[in-house]
Amino acid sequence: MSGAGPEHARKVGPMTSTSTDSAQKAPAKDPWDLPDVSGLVVGVLGGTGPQGKGLAYRLARAGQKVIIGSRAAERAQAAADELGHGVEGADNAETARRSDIVIVAVPWDGHGKTLESLREELAGKLVVDCVNPLGFDKKGAYALKPEEGSAAEQAAALLPDSRVTAAFHHLSAVLLQDPEIEEIDTDVMVLGEERADVEIVQALAGRIPGMRGIFSGRLRNAHQVESLVANLISVNRRYKAHAGLRLTDL
Ligand SMILES: NC(=O)c1ccc[n+]([C@@H]2O[C@H](COP(=O)([O-])OP(=O)(O)OC[C@H]3O[C@@H](n4cnc5c(N)ncnc54)[C@H](OP(=O)(O)O)[C@@H]3O)[C@@H](O)[C@H]2O)c1
Repeated sequence: MSGAGPEHARKVGPMTSTSTDSAQKAPAKDPWDLPDVSGLVVGVLGGTGPQGKGLAYRLARAGQKVIIGSRAAERAQAAADELGHGVEGADNAETARRSDIVIVAVPWDGHGKTLESLREELAGKLVVDCVNPLGFDKKGAYALKPEEGSAAEQAAALLPDSRVTAAFHHLSAVLLQDPEIEEIDTDVMVLGEERADVEIVQALAGRIPGMRGIFSGRLRNAHQVESLVANLISVNRRYKAHAGLRLTDL
């Protein structure tokens, strides 16, 4: 196990339990002790768009093996060639088949249909949903309310044989894609049902310099996380920024 969290946080904290306690209970696991994910292949469905391409670029630049997916293999190949860093391109189905971790970066409109059509290829895979169901009108962006509760819960309902998590909602695709920017200064809220899966995604986020993956609860609380993007869009418009998110006291 090698940590992917910040160096200072990986240290095991002081032992506070008595010897009798420790004989009975295993010491609590350091939450920053995250698995080594450097050998896992990451696929990105909808990887030809700004968000997917930005994530693919950052992960590949950090040394991760990345496959960009698209509805059309040639579009994926073109995006992969543009990014370099060993990124490959394939259609969404092949991307899902060849990957250990599959990031879903398609628009909310195409979310349900895309996942439904890839149920077989995504079986057993760790799926990371970063889709924000949003509407836009003349007042700006607002959160939509998916029937299942959230995009992530829709994914979990459609993919009963996959390990569905949610993360990477609050990133700026502009910053991700800018090669002049060395570090992406932000936390990534990671949600899921299985602690081990969440930790893999936290570790994946931690591969990107400046980023920290933070366990943020179960999928039933994904709606707020997805919706918060509507607020970030308002912030960005007002301050002409690409605002990220930091959780303090961690
Ligand atoms: N942009 C951001 O800053 C940002 C940040 C955080 C999260 N997100 C989330 O990430 C997702 C992708 O964002 P984006 O801005 O990259 O979106 P996008 O450019 O609109 O779409 C991404 C890719 O999805 C594919 N696609 C388009 N319509 C589709 C459909 N109906 N069914 C299946 N695939 C379709 C397209 O690729 P092909 O035509 O090649 O298949 C497209 O290049 C969104 O759900 C968004 O909420 C975005």
